[in-house]
Amino acid sequence: MPGVSLTINDKKVRVPAGTTILEAARELNITIPTLCHDKRLSPFGACRLCVVEVRGRKNLPAACVTPVEEGMTVLTESPAVVEARRTIIELLLANHPLDCLTCEKSGNCRLQDYAYRYGVKRTPFEGTRDQLPLDDNNPFIIRDPNKCILCGKCVRACQEIRGQAVLGFAFRGPATRVVPPLDVSLGESDCVFCQNCVAVCPTGALRDKYLAGKGRWWEFQPEAVTCPFCANGCHFYLLRKEGKVVAVAAGGAAPGRPMCLRGRLALTLIFCEEPPQPQIKTEKGFAAVSWTEALGLEELAGKLWPK
Ligand code: SF4
Ligand code: SF4
Ligand code: SF4
Ligand code: FES
Repeated sequence: MPGVSLTINDKKVRVPAGTTILEAARELNITIPTLCHDKRLSPFGACRLCVVEVRGRKNLPAACVTPVEEGMTVLTESPAVVEARRTIIELLLANHPLDCLTCEKSGNCRLQDYAYRYGVKRTPFEGTRDQLPLDDNNPFIIRDPNKCILCGKCVRACQEIRGQAVLGFAFRGPATRVVPPLDVSLGESDCVFCQNCVAVCPTGALRDKYLAGKGRWWEFQPEAVTCPFCANGCHFYLLRKEGKVVAVAAGGAAPGRPMCLRGRLALTLIFCEEPPQPQIKTEKGFAAVSWTEALGLEELAGKLWPK
């Protein structure tokens, strides 16, 4: 097979030229931690958590954006790599509220998982730990800028999957934040509440509002379902707790699959034991409406059940 041969943690692998070290490691079932990488999104290389040691190189390259080279020898968990990852996590925690005890994302949070994996219990760095206000004046998404680690996944998901470009980086240096244009709330922006951003966010910075207070992540039994309402076939999860479906969560974003709000609402109506009153955005804000109106089925309903 033409390609590039390399060694990762003493295991040999041959992969096509242009493959990244991260992808080659995955071929060998070697897990390299990532925060800003998602194979469905364009490469970003910002968080540096995926750094690895390459024999003969002085620096530690980011595995998600470094292509393999012939004869390369890679170590994914060497002492230097582990120390670098611990420092990166400590730096992230310096600006992160340590409220995992009550965080809705606990149990499903990459930052928490990696802090556990690398034994980071506290941070020696003095961060700002800003107390920025929550953005939750809409019925669908809670945006907590205090928990954002600036991985940029939501920015890319909104732009590359949804084609909406609602979220972007703003301000500079330590004040950098991910916000809608002019720093308005999501409810005031052009957001269509598809939750592609929520599905990719690795922390509790973007959360599904329907899920708030419904249970701890480990209490849910997620069941993957494909939305049957259009040919895109987007992925969602039915979240069961004690045998009842309590919510429908956005699944993984995928190119060509816009994962719309209507599909999520329709699945919520069909599967949830106690579906919430749907709301739509009007000129005066969000308003409670009938399910027929929320799903855009008024014309069909008028034909089926004429008044
Ligand atoms: S986002 Fe993750 S690390 Fe941060 S408080 Fe929540 S569970 Fe803990
Ligand atoms: S919900 Fe959809 S449109 Fe709104 S910010 Fe997230 S990805 Fe963009
Ligand atoms: S909101 Fe979430 S996905 Fe977006 S940059 Fe922050 S941590 Fe990353
Ligand atoms: S996952 Fe590679 S730099 Fe973030």
